[in-house]
Amino acid sequence: MAIEIKPTDAALGAEVTGIDLSRELDASSWAGIRDAWHRHLVLLFRGQSLVPRKLAAFSQHFGVLDVVPAWRDFHPDGTPEVLVISNVKESGKPIGVLGYGEAEWHTDMSYMAEPPRASVLHALEVPLAGGNTSFLNMYQAYEDLPADLQRAVEGQEVNHDSSYDSTGSLRPGAPQVTDVRQAPGARHPLVRRHPDSGRAALYLGRRLNAYVLGLPVEQSETLLDRLWAHVLQPKYVWEHRWRVGDVLIWDNRCTMHRREPFDAATRRVMHRTQIKGERPIAA
Ligand code: SIN
Repeated sequence: MAIEIKPTDAALGAEVTGIDLSRELDASSWAGIRDAWHRHLVLLFRGQSLVPRKLAAFSQHFGVLDVVPAWRDFHPDGTPEVLVISNVKESGKPIGVLGYGEAEWHTDMSYMAEPPRASVLHALEVPLAGGNTSFLNMYQAYEDLPADLQRAVEGQEVNHDSSYDSTGSLRPGAPQVTDVRQAPGARHPLVRRHPDSGRAALYLGRRLNAYVLGLPVEQSETLLDRLWAHVLQPKYVWEHRWRVGDVLIWDNRCTMHRREPFDAATRRVMHRTQIKGERPIAA
């Protein structure tokens, strides 16, 4: 069966059909898939059945796998590069991370100096309702900025706070942030150039404790609030409703994502990998 790329009718995302990711593919097919990924920012492969080792092998076609030490307790046996995302508890202990609550809009690990370029999720168990993951096209959001905001973001850098995770929980050992100017984390250009596509995208990370360097806090808050109100318009969003067997890869350099909450009494189990990234460069 021939591989086909079917774009969603939203601002980003495409489904790739005619492919079994557990089998070998030739180099030109992978090049085509990577090209589609650069054009559509998020790719969906339905009906896949990948053991953790195969998920890692798939992910490696997009770069070098990132093995995150904090994942130590939540990876399937023998595959430290795969993280379990789940609300399920076995013998009273969580089998994975992120629970059942909302994961607010964010870009993965933007509080690192070299944030991951991509993340991959494979759905093993999904609830009947809730737990959808939505994505935002940050190229388009940048290109559509009104002229005054275009000027306001030019040359700016933002501190991406590392103390809270995307569920709003303080990370173990992290300080409570009382002044955004003192928040720990990494500083990145507010507009970054994608190293492969050459396009400029807004790079916001997450809203909590973000700070535009050098501005009075009030001005930084106003600018960030205006930018977030702009990017969260439905016209930049694609919402994905999960089915068992879905594999999704997204590009953290030009998208943000959010997971909606779901019923704690239901089960959601995903396997996740991420690909090492590069230091963001200013556009
Ligand atoms: C994430 O924010 O990386 C997890 C998304 C999800 O669980 O759908």
